[in-house]
Amino acid sequence: FNVPIAVNEPVRAYEPGCEHREAISKAYQEMYSSVLDVPMYINGKDVKTGDTKPMSPPHDHQHVVGHYHLAKKSHVEEAISTALEARESWANTPWEHRAGIFLKAAELIAGPYRARINAATMMAQSKTIHQAEIDAACELIDFLRFNVQYMTDMYHEQPESTSGAWNRLEYRPLEGFTYAVSPFNFTAIAGNLPSCMALMGNVVVWKPSDSQVYSAKVIMDVFEEAGVPAGVINVVFGDPKMITDTVLSSPDFSGLHFTGSTYIFKELWKQIGNNIHNYKTYPKIVGETGGKDFIVAHKTANPIQVATAISRGAFEFQGQKCSAASRAYISKSIWSEVKAQVIEDVKSFKMGSPADMENFITAVIHEASFDKLAKYIDQAKKDKKAEIIVGGNYDKSKGYFIEPTVIVTEDPKYTTMCDELFGPVITIYVFEDKDYSKTLKLVDETSEYALTGAILAQDRYAIVEATKALQNCAGNFYINDKPTGAVVGQQPFGGARSSGTNDKAGSILNLQRWVSPRMIKETF
Ligand code: ALA
Repeated sequence: FNVPIAVNEPVRAYEPGCEHREAISKAYQEMYSSVLDVPMYINGKDVKTGDTKPMSPPHDHQHVVGHYHLAKKSHVEEAISTALEARESWANTPWEHRAGIFLKAAELIAGPYRARINAATMMAQSKTIHQAEIDAACELIDFLRFNVQYMTDMYHEQPESTSGAWNRLEYRPLEGFTYAVSPFNFTAIAGNLPSCMALMGNVVVWKPSDSQVYSAKVIMDVFEEAGVPAGVINVVFGDPKMITDTVLSSPDFSGLHFTGSTYIFKELWKQIGNNIHNYKTYPKIVGETGGKDFIVAHKTANPIQVATAISRGAFEFQGQKCSAASRAYISKSIWSEVKAQVIEDVKSFKMGSPADMENFITAVIHEASFDKLAKYIDQAKKDKKAEIIVGGNYDKSKGYFIEPTVIVTEDPKYTTMCDELFGPVITIYVFEDKDYSKTLKLVDETSEYALTGAILAQDRYAIVEATKALQNCAGNFYINDKPTGAVVGQQPFGGARSSGTNDKAGSILNLQRWVSPRMIKETF
């Protein structure tokens, strides 16, 4: 089990004038000024159906940068049958060769594809150069490298044997085929969902989000160049209901790897349940879904640190991270200092197109998201129990721009304290210093989701108390930090309650879901 030791890919700083920044800028401009035709990818071939949808950058929604081809039912059926045909040879490909392919994919992204995958993510998902670098380059590279290491760690786990009986666990892939459904907000997640299942020897039908097609194409180009054989990962675009109905009605469906909305995941789970008598094997279901991630600040917390946790935790990546802070509970005696600093921070954030690399915030992903956020902001402007202390403006004339917005409310159950908004809006509730324990209880009671959360305090007993009281509220819990920025290989990521099955992306726990081990006992 000798594999290269996984190391996190260093994040490039892209200082003005440096050659890497120039390379990304050039790749971005080329993409922006051309019209890309994006085929699906089935059985190792590009598939064009002629039925297409246009793609536009969220920060410039009238500008068309390409079209992608949409599947008919027959294409999805072909993706399934081609995956099943590829299964035997892929499942029996020695693990070293599967590992070699995905390690090569990591190196292709680290090197020749880095500018392209970053530029695609900036343009089509509206991320700044720094957000793209962290996501599309570094996190995806890390997933690919660390998963290889975790796979071999898993293979190391073997039962005891005696001289007369040799016991060995064979980590076989699932029978049938698996289904990856990936979201718009992380290119890394889009790359990880199909690749970690394929690494374990599974064959995959992959449906990326409509808003992430551009970078999905780059990922698939990387996988193809790295040597993923025809039929192992098949990409289909289009009507999610038709694609999902077709996939889930196949008796050979054996696993769902999903990241996206809580509602859709629960619907898929129901649909799998309704089909359960038709499947040859019980499908594995892994999902990472919504979040309503919190910050709690005790009276002993450093106010500047609290303000930074709020402004970076809530507004980096336009708040479109499942981990983004979207509610905060701040002790009254530190509030005025925290408030002043948050307002100063937020006013310093530049918002605009990612093409201007000085911008810190860009557009939200699409009109539906923009309209939803604008509606909540308008409501807060009207409600007596809410006050917007900074931000609150929005404009969709060119792109879907929502100003980073901080709402303060006197009602800890106010709508924006509870609903998942998925954008650059955070709501703050200020509690009396003496009500710390009561507030922790309230956070637990109002945590329908349980993805990430943070406690900030200098008093160790306050930290101990929060760690215990909030133990079911966050799969990733941060002490004296913002609740975002989990790094593969350091903080495996995922949550429970309505946030998912908590199978920790980028960990051995996740890879274990994609095998069906056979225990072999050989007697001599
Ligand atoms: N892994 C990302 C974060 O923790 C979602 O912010």
